[in-house]
Amino acid sequence: MSMIDVSGLELYLGAGPRRRKILDGIGFEVEDGQTFGLVGESGSGKSTVLRCIAGLYKHWDGAISVDGKSFAQTKRLEWCRKVQMVFQDPYGSLHPKRKIADILAEPLKVHGFSDINRRIGDALEQVGLGDQFRYRYPHQLSGGQRQRVAIARALILEPKILLLDEPTSALDVSIQAEILNLFMDLRERHKLTYLLVSHDLAVIDHMCSDFAVMEGGRIVEVLSRAALESGAAQSQYTRSLIAASAAYDRDLALAQAGA
Ligand SMILES: Nc1ncnc2c1ncn2[C@@H]1O[C@H](COP(=O)(O)OP(=O)(O)OP(=O)(O)O)[C@@H](O)[C@H]1O
Ligand SMILES: [Mg+2]
Repeated sequence: MSMIDVSGLELYLGAGPRRRKILDGIGFEVEDGQTFGLVGESGSGKSTVLRCIAGLYKHWDGAISVDGKSFAQTKRLEWCRKVQMVFQDPYGSLHPKRKIADILAEPLKVHGFSDINRRIGDALEQVGLGDQFRYRYPHQLSGGQRQRVAIARALILEPKILLLDEPTSALDVSIQAEILNLFMDLRERHKLTYLLVSHDLAVIDHMCSDFAVMEGGRIVEVLSRAALESGAAQSQYTRSLIAASAAYDRDLALAQAGA
């Protein structure tokens, strides 16, 4: 049984004459414990797919199931416990006037947990932050630390699935690998399943067994990591990503040779 099962997903957004079909028959499955990637040009609908799965949009057609239960059959709070999202910009997603402990306590209160203190301590430890971070505000943290807090908040309800929307692209290059490795560790430790949006083929290659390429609200191809490496990509977008990343590698090699 797959952990995420999406089929025939369609969504319209905008009102009146601006109403447009944003997702057009999206379907894919993600096995338990895997990381499935979503790539595609800007505006192709990647974040919208994640928002539908997170339950932030509810007026779609089609079917979404997680862990064998459909969205329609599941109560909102139960769905939220299973499926959590991590956004690109950790500063925008953390309330600036709240201490980290309050930010982490909020979902626990909504879901009626009583051992809030212990859970906050555990969550901070899981993302490699000490207990002193409880008393800080988001602006007193580095970008990488803020993203760790956002990850702790996503983990605090012990979800099965994390939806990751370009979770490292706002971070300094030196921090990106650290955060990606944290995601890999957490996936093993907590038996998580990930759906990962990225523009960076190296990130997809590092994290994902398979990924889908989106164009104009549709999936135009699904590739495995092995197919990517053997040059089997058909779609124009994937080919341009591969060309860009090959050019980057070549420039880097030339720069290093010249240094
Ligand atoms: N609330 C909205 N009302 C109308 N159109 C919207 C709304 N939100 C998004 N869209 C449109 O839906 C399309 C898909 O947007 P989405 O944010 O999913 O793209 P994306 O693939 O995540 O792009 P990016 O790589 O730039 O993040 C875009 O054309 C966007 O303009
Ligand atoms: Mg997006």
